[in-house]
Amino acid sequence: MPRIAVYPGSFDPITNGHMDIVRRARRLFDKVILTVAVNRSKNSTFTLKERVAMAKACVRGLSGVEVDTFEGLLVDYLKKRGSRVIIRGVRAVSDMEYEFQMASMNRAISPEVESVFLMPDERYTYLSSSIIKEVARMGARVGDYLPAPAVEAVRKRFSRRTRP
Ligand code: PNS
Repeated sequence: MPRIAVYPGSFDPITNGHMDIVRRARRLFDKVILTVAVNRSKNSTFTLKERVAMAKACVRGLSGVEVDTFEGLLVDYLKKRGSRVIIRGVRAVSDMEYEFQMASMNRAISPEVESVFLMPDERYTYLSSSIIKEVARMGARVGDYLPAPAVEAVRKRFSRRTRP
């Protein structure tokens, strides 16, 4: 049986920190499914279609990594995909408060599911999709923080203000 892990998130947009977690997860599992949340209640900057397109372009060339979408309960999605492992990246201890709550709820609903927390490389600990969008909006270059296809998309979205 292949060991399949699911890496869920908003990926609005996918960052170098997310890519680092995908690579680390892939070293531990035979297959990693990066799944983009539909998140109807959250106001995303990029549409689901755009977030998926960016993620797909970024993982192209990484074997054993698939991009998908999910809506509803994450644990239901895991069941559907034959996985019992949720991957989450943790940048700092402060992330753990939210992560612990989510993992505990997922465990309460579905006790067979395990959450696995991975630390990104120290270079990425200060990165988040929101902070990158904030500086991009104000004209900062974002090439050091995002994989190339996401840089393109962010540039286009905030083009009038982003320096080349
Ligand atoms: O990248 P994010 O926004 O931190 O990802 C959060 C996400 C999408 C993984 C989380 O909100 C989620 O799992 N949503 C699906 C609904 C669900 O299953 N909720 C129960 C666990 S709290």
